[in-house]
Amino acid sequence: MKNSQDKKQKDLSINISDSTNKFLTTNQGIRVNDDNNTLKAGERGPSLLEDFILREKITHFDHERIPERVVHARGSGAHGFFEVTNPIPELTKAGFLQEVGLTTPVFTRFSTVAGSRGSTDLARDVRGFSVKFYTQEGIYDFVGNNIPVFFIQDASKFPDLVHAVKPEQHNEIPQASSAHDTFWDFISLMPESMHMIMWLMSDRAIPRSYRMMEGFGVHTFRLINEAGESTFVKFHWKPKLGTHAVAWDEAQKISGKNPDFHREDLYEAIEMGNFPEWELGVQIIPAEDEEKYEFDLLDPTKIVPEELVPVTIVGRMVLNKNPDNFFSETEQIAFHPGHVVPGIDFSNDPLLQGRLFSYTDTQLTRLGGPNFHEIPINRSIAPVHNNQRDGFMRQEINKGRVNYHPNSLGGGCPYQAQISEGGFTSFPERIEAHKVRERSKSFSDHFGQAKLFFNSQTPEEKSHIVKALRFELGKVDTTAIRLRMLGLLAQVDTELAQKVAIGLGATVPTNLEFPVNKGVSPENEGGDQEPKTV
Ligand code: HEM
Repeated sequence: MKNSQDKKQKDLSINISDSTNKFLTTNQGIRVNDDNNTLKAGERGPSLLEDFILREKITHFDHERIPERVVHARGSGAHGFFEVTNPIPELTKAGFLQEVGLTTPVFTRFSTVAGSRGSTDLARDVRGFSVKFYTQEGIYDFVGNNIPVFFIQDASKFPDLVHAVKPEQHNEIPQASSAHDTFWDFISLMPESMHMIMWLMSDRAIPRSYRMMEGFGVHTFRLINEAGESTFVKFHWKPKLGTHAVAWDEAQKISGKNPDFHREDLYEAIEMGNFPEWELGVQIIPAEDEEKYEFDLLDPTKIVPEELVPVTIVGRMVLNKNPDNFFSETEQIAFHPGHVVPGIDFSNDPLLQGRLFSYTDTQLTRLGGPNFHEIPINRSIAPVHNNQRDGFMRQEINKGRVNYHPNSLGGGCPYQAQISEGGFTSFPERIEAHKVRERSKSFSDHFGQAKLFFNSQTPEEKSHIVKALRFELGKVDTTAIRLRMLGLLAQVDTELAQKVAIGLGATVPTNLEFPVNKGVSPENEGGDQEPKTV
């Protein structure tokens, strides 16, 4: 296993620099004899513009910061490897899943969603769980979360969700520290979020350690085998250390004393040789079972219960090396759910489909142009050849005369592989449909799985959910928002709603009028902001 990880480490080593016992120089390689004083006209005189050493040092410093990720800004990561324990060639032709013992280098980044780069690790929040696989066939990115469902069903609501959860725009005060109105306003108008809200108010949203979290692909994906047959899958990471949380009271104290608690925990465990480990599993859903369930496989607010489809373990991941440089690696890594290898393909989940656009688009700004695939941490270990050229910060020096296809001149232009030589082919799913802007009716049960999750909790865990909701909604100033939330909670569990209501000094409304956006409720044909009774 070490050998394959070495391949990426060797690739990174080209860019690693160690300045111990080396001459101090400028970026142009000129040795610097005095790094303490600017060039001046006389000992006590003004500084001279001519001082290129000072100018270069200050200019570089002035530009050290880049934009933080628009979401998942706060994170920590590590290198490691993935090893196949139970190959699934009958389901996928992905090369890295073919043989027992086959290993692939990985870099994994864990994150919170809402906070900024310097925010606390122990916030009540979803955790990101992203794994970059440097496979022989190119990069495969798993970009998941530690909660198996999501707030919304359609990508068009993602900017609204994130605007609602981020600090309010007028005062930039994070919702964790003051009023929670905007987040709960949005949620109270989006019944589809209720399953996710149950998870978010549970102990799952305050993990004890990154090493003790599950990871989920959330969406249904497709696996494609050599014969071109497709199977639906849900991806799962299961931590060897088990899934553990802290209590909310502990989370708040830890946030005060050590906001870097998870970052330190991951770093120190790896430094001490306690390498964290996860198993990768798949829930396998045959293509013919696509419409077998009462929920829709394309709806990202639903799980496929493990009682219906058990998880089959296919491999394990071990994180065994901390980054040499946080910025160069953890900060500059660019994940994308659209980075797939032959044998893995997408489903038509409308949230996933939107994500396929978003990641490269944001990274073009965050990482300064179209060449961020050349940054060492993002570089594929599979060879990269194409006719893309130029752009800010281009590193590659493309030889030859020709950078277009077709051509008759040759020299510099790669050729297209025959199918027998490998390559990505999209699954030729047959689509015959009208172009519509509509939510599928099969997405309309917003409470069934929220109930299922709540009922799966122990009495102690249920009481944590009640307390979390009392705490969160207790910080909502607007009465109408609290009442709408109580109305929605009553659809999940009446006792839950009543217990929360007692904590808020309120009564659960029985017949609640509230505006629901057209997209949320398929039967509401009347246009935006129609009053709707739940
Ligand atoms: C990060 C968009 C839904 C998991 C990001 C970033 C964007 C984004 C713009 C920042 C990327 C960067 O700067 O490199 C979206 C959109 C979504 C969506 C538009 C819905 C339409 C989801 C879902 C999941 C998820 C459902 C989980 C399954 C993540 C993770 C990261 C991330 C883990 C952090 C990656 C890292 O560690 O760098 N998302 N996201 N996102 N997203 Fe999403």
